[in-house]
Amino acid sequence: MEVNGHKLVYLDNGATSQKPAAVIEALKNYYEAYNANVHRGIHFLSAKATDEYELARRKVATFINAKESGEIVFTRNATEAINLVANSWGLSNLEAGDEIILTVAEHHSAIVPWQLVAQKTGAQLKFVSLTKDEVPDTGALLDMLSRKTKLVVVHHVSNVLASTLPIHDIVHSAHAVGAKVLVDACQSVPHMAVDVQSLGADFLVASSHKMCGPTGVGFLYGKEELLYSMPPFLGGGEMISDVYLDHSTYANPPSRFEAGTPAIG
Ligand SMILES: Cc1ncc(COP(=O)(O)O)c(C=O)c1O
Repeated sequence: MEVNGHKLVYLDNGATSQKPAAVIEALKNYYEAYNANVHRGIHFLSAKATDEYELARRKVATFINAKESGEIVFTRNATEAINLVANSWGLSNLEAGDEIILTVAEHHSAIVPWQLVAQKTGAQLKFVSLTKDEVPDTGALLDMLSRKTKLVVVHHVSNVLASTLPIHDIVHSAHAVGAKVLVDACQSVPHMAVDVQSLGADFLVASSHKMCGPTGVGFLYGKEELLYSMPPFLGGGEMISDVYLDHSTYANPPSRFEAGTPAIG
């Protein structure tokens, strides 16, 4: 393609990546050959779509070295994954006096959900600023940790500064004061090996559209025992076990957090 007489070169992969032919072909094949509702039918096409969907979950789990594929929850994007943690874990675990530590370099999608949770719970947001080299001050972050800290929200690689944070060290220190860590890995998962077990993070999020995959899909990684302890975020089909008129019981994770027909791309 030419723009203003020049061959178009696309470099905005941090925002969203173009899709390789293999990805477009896989989507086309799904819509042409086995389009059906995942987890909702017992007919051939639905079983095939469900198998492929669960295979994709296992591939994501392997890609980031999660212990179990059930630790991967598919969402619409990373933003929804963070909102899921904020509304589910955040609203049921935070109260007045608790602190959430973030850096000023977080993406808006990693800041605003926690502002909303803070307004509802009375928890306080504490921001780590930048050093004179314009990178988040990890030393200041570690100094800020205290028994009041319930959550640390940090990027792995920044979309604005390209800084790479020492997640393993941050997790180690956060866990020592009893805090959980949510890692925004939107910019790291597409570019470097990310191993959730060695990082030790409690939650990690990323978006498919930034890593050559379809738009409309993201994922939340959460440690199995944490996901099991969390209430649903969105209500609807697939996330339930039994539905009565006055209440419902919920499916186990990851289904508990995947209400409605999932995005395929
Ligand atoms: C570091 C980081 N976090 C979160 C997001 C939000 O991703 P999405 O809009 O796919 O939810 C982005 C997108 O630019 C990002 O770069």
